[in-house]
Amino acid sequence: METITSPADMKQFSRRLRQEAHRIGFVPTMGFLHQGHLSLVEQARVQGRCDRIVMSIFVNPLQFGPREDFEKYPRDFDGDFQLAWSAGVDCLFYPDVRDMYPDGARTTVEVAELGQVLCGVSRPTHFRGVTTVVSKLLNIVMPHVAVFGQKDAQQFFIVRRMVQDLLMDVELIRAPIVRETDGLALSSRNVYLNAEERKQAVCLYQSLMQARRLIDEGQRDAQTILRAMRTHIERHPSARIDHVAIVDTERLQPRTVVEGPTLIAAAVYIGTTRLIDNIIVGEEP
Ligand code: PAF
Repeated sequence: METITSPADMKQFSRRLRQEAHRIGFVPTMGFLHQGHLSLVEQARVQGRCDRIVMSIFVNPLQFGPREDFEKYPRDFDGDFQLAWSAGVDCLFYPDVRDMYPDGARTTVEVAELGQVLCGVSRPTHFRGVTTVVSKLLNIVMPHVAVFGQKDAQQFFIVRRMVQDLLMDVELIRAPIVRETDGLALSSRNVYLNAEERKQAVCLYQSLMQARRLIDEGQRDAQTILRAMRTHIERHPSARIDHVAIVDTERLQPRTVVEGPTLIAAAVYIGTTRLIDNIIVGEEP
């Protein structure tokens, strides 16, 4: 497995792969890898039909707010290296912040409106940071396919909009959420939870399963479903709801009635740790 730190070297590596007719799959991450990330590698290979996989590890300062956890975000390059290698990643791109954001850089990329709802309400600059770094990474890695996890569903829908709007030549894959046995979605931030919080954290998933059950039983009224979700989460003393929402998957606007492709999303503080989870019903094509 190659490790490349310079954007220029990464471009050269990708150019060579393209000249040799390889199909490049790209898995952007912020490191502290877990099975969820490794499943993205598998998706790139199988669903994306890629024969070369590039993974980036870059804790992107631009997507953290001033009071968020950029400094303490977990980092473990040696552990990540081992996991990426064992998953068959061909190239690890591990750039320095000064190369991604050189002095004088003035350009950001922002998808209007979609980044101001849901998680964007409490993290108003987050998605601008994400779309800025993802467009840089796509320009550097030049992949045929890029894979994003559904756990960050809003991120996926915003990146999809950006790729469409900017006519970017990359195919996107939305990979299913990988969960612990009790249903908690895998996340690098789960390490922040103490034992009691870890137990209560499953309330996000349970509330989503409750929503799915109600929908399966024929309930279509969004407020009724959201009320049931909130009631379930609020029974857990460590939990404080940031938002629960039922929205369409294009503009991320609230639905009053569940019909068509619909994202049901929850963001909940468990203690001081903000966790997110979601399901998509009325699947997209
Ligand atoms: O999902 C993430 O880990 C990050 O938001 C991403 C896509 C790597 C951009 O920094």
